[in-house]
Amino acid sequence: MKPRTIKFKRASLMAAVIAMATAAAGCASGGPYPLDTLSPKSDLTRSILNLFKEVTILDSIVLIVVIVAMIGAIFVYSSREGDPGEPSAMHSDVTLEMLWTVIPALILVAITVPTVHTIIRTQPDKWPAETLEVKVIAHQWWWEFEYPSLGVVTADEVHIPADRTIHFAMTSKDVIHSFFMPSIGGKRDVVPGQENQITLKADTPGEYYGQCTEFCGTSHANMRFRVFVDTPADFDKWVAHQNEPPVRPTDGAAAAGAKIWADAPCAICHTIKGVSGFSKDYTYGFRGPDLTHFGSRGTMAGSMLKNTPENVALWIKNPDAVKPGANMPTLGLDGEDLNDLVAYLESLK
Ligand code: CUA
Repeated sequence: MKPRTIKFKRASLMAAVIAMATAAAGCASGGPYPLDTLSPKSDLTRSILNLFKEVTILDSIVLIVVIVAMIGAIFVYSSREGDPGEPSAMHSDVTLEMLWTVIPALILVAITVPTVHTIIRTQPDKWPAETLEVKVIAHQWWWEFEYPSLGVVTADEVHIPADRTIHFAMTSKDVIHSFFMPSIGGKRDVVPGQENQITLKADTPGEYYGQCTEFCGTSHANMRFRVFVDTPADFDKWVAHQNEPPVRPTDGAAAAGAKIWADAPCAICHTIKGVSGFSKDYTYGFRGPDLTHFGSRGTMAGSMLKNTPENVALWIKNPDAVKPGANMPTLGLDGEDLNDLVAYLESLK
């Protein structure tokens, strides 16, 4: 081989190594990426990241050994001027064959054991007595969260207390979705007619992002959610607030909006506790998000938009333009009526 070709190959190898190292450093910096699996904030994601690190270190050792052996072989065994003809072919060497069978088998064992251990540890069959159950119900294209022991139902924004075991039991009302909150909990398919689980303990209060990660139709990419890990005191405050009936507006635009709510078909799909009811068999009042405390949520429409009067108006006026394929119908509201209805919804703190 000509020396120039060897130089070129070395340069390409160095470039590839530098590119990989730069990409890895970029990921590990944990920058402002909302769906960051490298900034764990729960016992579940910490153990997954540890496993990832262990496997990466092991794989890197294998990669380095193979590359060093390969480059060494190129230099040691390449033919030189004056060598006599073709080298003799080696037919079998029992020791070598044993070695390259046993070593990969040991590497696979070293990867499999911690992987299976992590799977078992993060999917327990039993939960501590103080575990909080949160039902996750996926819909095209929004998330419903129900707290059976607390009587709370909300949408697109789930609150959990830090340092307490949470058991998410998830199912779907229509097609297969996938519940993914990278910093807090791995990823689980959400399947109609089946209950899948995630059990975890979040440890760092904050706001985290989630996203449906199974293609589920037109607005799959718009099926987002937020996880709020609260301090236990803040969580109790949030629950107490969710259990209060919303304030009934008595005058102004919000009161006019309450009348529009009553006359419009909103209550067929949405519930406002104390104002319009729901049926537990999902025939009415539950096809869309529970709006009892809509005004207290930071985001709306599959957690895509900030919850502002402008965005609520945009949504009601033409849901399909905001979330293509949305099941929310266009009500034909505009002008003052629309503003009044928006004022009412935003008053539902
Ligand atoms: Cu739900 Cu994708």
